[in-house]
Amino acid sequence: MKQQPGWALPDLRAAQKRTKTESVIERSLFQIPSEIKQLGQGKKYYLRTYGCQANERDSETIAGILEELMFIPVNVPEEADLVILNTCAVRKNAEDKVLGEMGSLKRLQRDNPDVIFGLCGCMAQEEEVVNLLLEKYRHVKLIFGTHNIHRLPELLYDVMLGGKRSVEVLSKEGEVIENLPVKRFGKHKAWVNIMYGCDKFCTYCIVPYTRGKERSRTMEDVLEEIRELKNEGYKEVTLLGQNVNSYGKDLHIEKGFAALLEETAKIGIDRIRFTTSHPWDFSDEMIDVIAKYDNIMPFIHLPVQSGDSDMLKIMGRRYTREEYLTLFHKIKDKVKNCAFSTDIIVGFPNETEEQFQQTLSLVDECKFDNAYTFIYSPREGTPAAKMDDNVSLEVKQRRLAELNERWNVYANEKNMAYQGQIVKVLVDGVSKKNKEVYSGYTETNKLVNFSATDVKPGDIVNVRITACKTFSLDGEMC
Ligand code: SAH
Ligand code: SF4
Ligand code: F3S
Repeated sequence: MKQQPGWALPDLRAAQKRTKTESVIERSLFQIPSEIKQLGQGKKYYLRTYGCQANERDSETIAGILEELMFIPVNVPEEADLVILNTCAVRKNAEDKVLGEMGSLKRLQRDNPDVIFGLCGCMAQEEEVVNLLLEKYRHVKLIFGTHNIHRLPELLYDVMLGGKRSVEVLSKEGEVIENLPVKRFGKHKAWVNIMYGCDKFCTYCIVPYTRGKERSRTMEDVLEEIRELKNEGYKEVTLLGQNVNSYGKDLHIEKGFAALLEETAKIGIDRIRFTTSHPWDFSDEMIDVIAKYDNIMPFIHLPVQSGDSDMLKIMGRRYTREEYLTLFHKIKDKVKNCAFSTDIIVGFPNETEEQFQQTLSLVDECKFDNAYTFIYSPREGTPAAKMDDNVSLEVKQRRLAELNERWNVYANEKNMAYQGQIVKVLVDGVSKKNKEVYSGYTETNKLVNFSATDVKPGDIVNVRITACKTFSLDGEMC
């Protein structure tokens, strides 16, 4: 399908550009024109989110905008007049799932011919995907990207009243937009963006192309949001960025993330988490701050990707196996009772058996509490996608299974050590099956199911652990 007037299509080359210009902070970009303030009156929306926490948080913005337009949320697409999928592009199997879902949603048109389908998020930033949608998914009428969520009212208006297909995807470095509405999905846990984008360009990864350049919110804007959340009764904030350790570099903030973390801790909210930390620029100051404040949770997600230094170099990760291990042990020594999770990719182009064994031996050394493991997936436009690959899918699958078996041993061992301990749990909610069983997370991010009476979501309670499993703990309130 050819470009239509008014459309903006993604452009991977433009998405990859990085300049030294400072990002603009937009404080009044989001406006709803008065004639479309009631666009959603009497209409229902269904929004499904795929991918990482950045997308979760974007969905809270999308929901906030839709509700300002008077749309009402529903839990099943069958009841909706507007169905939006907020998508992730990080691996092909995640994309295939979305495309399958989008294809199957077309059936809703039989009962509701006016239902509008929209696709946004990281997949919308990809040329290949948008071309496919334009050609083969003609029922998808609304396509927008990660840089222009604020344009949703106008884009939706064009579809609903203009009867047009709205396609607007901007491939650019991006700005910081401060005045967007938000509908928080959690009542006591909140996501707080501290920065957007990524400049690391790991050779396998599409995120720098879908999210633009690294740009930080000002410290004052972030802290003000956290103060408000605390006043509203929130117990936990998770500071979000593709690499939070780079926070503030673009704004020349001295001590960057360490300074932000310390100021956040001083606000006195009960629990502070952050994700993701790239091992490359995890500073000593950061470790000291994490160790110093009780309300910064002793849990670090520290993606390693591979245990082999040559592989890490080809991946563009900027650290060696030894540097990762040194950092890991430094954090472990300084932060009391710290739990760790990681991300690992197996089957990167030409990964040898020895290199894979190096990954297993790193897992043996670190004994992670949790790991997210993936088979490498080539992504259009990234350098790794151009590399020849002599590793068969069969071998990759065998390595993934072996790796999972290995880290599960340690996850189980780590959980077993909780037997009989008393831990602090932030209560998420009550079990659907049994009204006396609650669930929540420990400071070290362990899921606990426990019996209790008279507690409510948002309470922080002491729980004695009575049984340990690989992925969760059981206990009773004490
Ligand atoms: N910014 C985060 C990662 C975001 S993507 C960081 O650097 O830690 C989450 C994880 O997806 C990555 O850590 C990596 O393990 C995995 N991933 C990214 N691109 C991938 C690809 N092309 N194939 C397989 N896994 C990938
Ligand atoms: Fe992707 Fe690397 Fe950026 Fe993480 S740091 S988002 S893996 S490019
Ligand atoms: Fe996926 Fe985009 Fe997040 S590609 S992992 S949703 S930044």
